[in-house]
Amino acid sequence: MGKALDGIRILDMTHVQSGPTCTQILAWFGADVIKVELPGRGDITRGQLRDKPGVDSLYFTMLNCNKRSITINTKQEKGKEVFRKLIQACDVMVENFAPGALDRQGFTWETIHELNPRLIYASVKGFGPGPYEDCKVYENIAQCTGGAASTTGFDDGPPLVTGAQIGDSGTGIHLVAGILAALFQRETSGQGQRVTCAMQDTVLNLCRVKLRDQQRLAAGPLMEYPQYPNGQFGAAVPRAGNASGGGQPGWAVKTKGGGPNDYIYVIIQPPGWEPLMKLCGRPELITDPEWATPEKRLPKLDKCFEIVEHWAMSMDKLEVMRALNQFDIPCGPILDMREIAEEQALRETGTVVEVDHPKRGKFLTVGNPIKLSDSPTDIVPSPLLGEHTDEILKSIVGWSDAEIAAARKDGAV
Ligand SMILES: CC(C)(COP(=O)(O)OP(=O)(O)OC[C@H]1O[C@@H](n2cnc3c(N)ncnc32)[C@H](O)[C@@H]1OP(=O)(O)O)[C@@H](O)C(=O)NCCC(=O)NCCS
Repeated sequence: MGKALDGIRILDMTHVQSGPTCTQILAWFGADVIKVELPGRGDITRGQLRDKPGVDSLYFTMLNCNKRSITINTKQEKGKEVFRKLIQACDVMVENFAPGALDRQGFTWETIHELNPRLIYASVKGFGPGPYEDCKVYENIAQCTGGAASTTGFDDGPPLVTGAQIGDSGTGIHLVAGILAALFQRETSGQGQRVTCAMQDTVLNLCRVKLRDQQRLAAGPLMEYPQYPNGQFGAAVPRAGNASGGGQPGWAVKTKGGGPNDYIYVIIQPPGWEPLMKLCGRPELITDPEWATPEKRLPKLDKCFEIVEHWAMSMDKLEVMRALNQFDIPCGPILDMREIAEEQALRETGTVVEVDHPKRGKFLTVGNPIKLSDSPTDIVPSPLLGEHTDEILKSIVGWSDAEIAAARKDGAV
């Protein structure tokens, strides 16, 4: 059996992280992704945060697997000619340039739609239409403007951004959904359409529960937040530290070791109270009317988790996990990146993959987290800059060697 997106060709005008995340997933599903890059330099991330001189950075190689690379200067006439041919030969075009960049080159949606009415044109921008639509946006700006930073961290500290790239990769994944929906609709409409995702919108989508809490505030204090019962609630949802975002209280408690990640996250559901208190050596609290019900525990969650922490400090986080799992008590050790890189189960499922790159050698990447039973993902190293220029110009654009040589001399490809 082939791949899910066999036969779909993507014109990939993306760079940095948000767009490349999207097109890498499409490539993993089997699409032929043609990454267009500026001759000479390419995607700026090829040279950013380099760990080895002279070779593509991990920043680039971890976001651009399974793609082909062609270099075209789409500001030059010959380059525009190639670009037009590729627009006509592709099913989807994806870009995440600063607002207006492609329009300034003469490639508006109207022009592109006229060139290929079946083409789906997908874009990532920082903001949707409105006062900020012309702004350039990077990851942390999206986290700040989408509501994540104001709700992350501890109440007595500054707003915090998270290491999870919810602005960039989060938006790229949303864009994948839009593209697949548009491809599906094209089956009946025969027409392409515009797909846009604003980073602010997608961060907000991921912060949906916080907008829920904003509205709950009108009805009184948020009882699962650590500010309850003694702290102050202002006009906006406060930072909740490590409190659980759902109806079940949770917290990260320390375990043995004293390292920065010697913690385990524990959730106390009503059925877990009895076995947890037995484990913690506090069986009297199982029936004590001051502790026995979730309602009674709610105002003293900090004390509940102190009890759990006191017990958990006698074991390492994996031992605590095993002990809690015996009783179906939801928990998760705080795994650091070294531990994740070494986790055998993640290697076996292809979620962490070792890739052998022709120039930089072996490196680890995160494989496809979306598993399709009939379309497994094989990871192919990211392309070198312009590695496929000639083959694409010949096979798709229909150019001869002489035409390629002339355009190369002009710097158009
Ligand atoms: C990410 C971002 C801030 C980077 O900004 P930047 O480095 O200035 O890059 P731009 O997108 O403005 O592109 C720079 C120029 O290169 C040009 N360019 C890029 N590839 C080209 C090519 N193959 N041929 C010719 N010109 C090219 C663009 O047309 C643009 O020209 P202009 O400034 O004359 O309009 C910006 O692209 C952006 O806001 N993107 C949308 C949001 C986003 O995806 N952000 C997250 C990134 S992880």
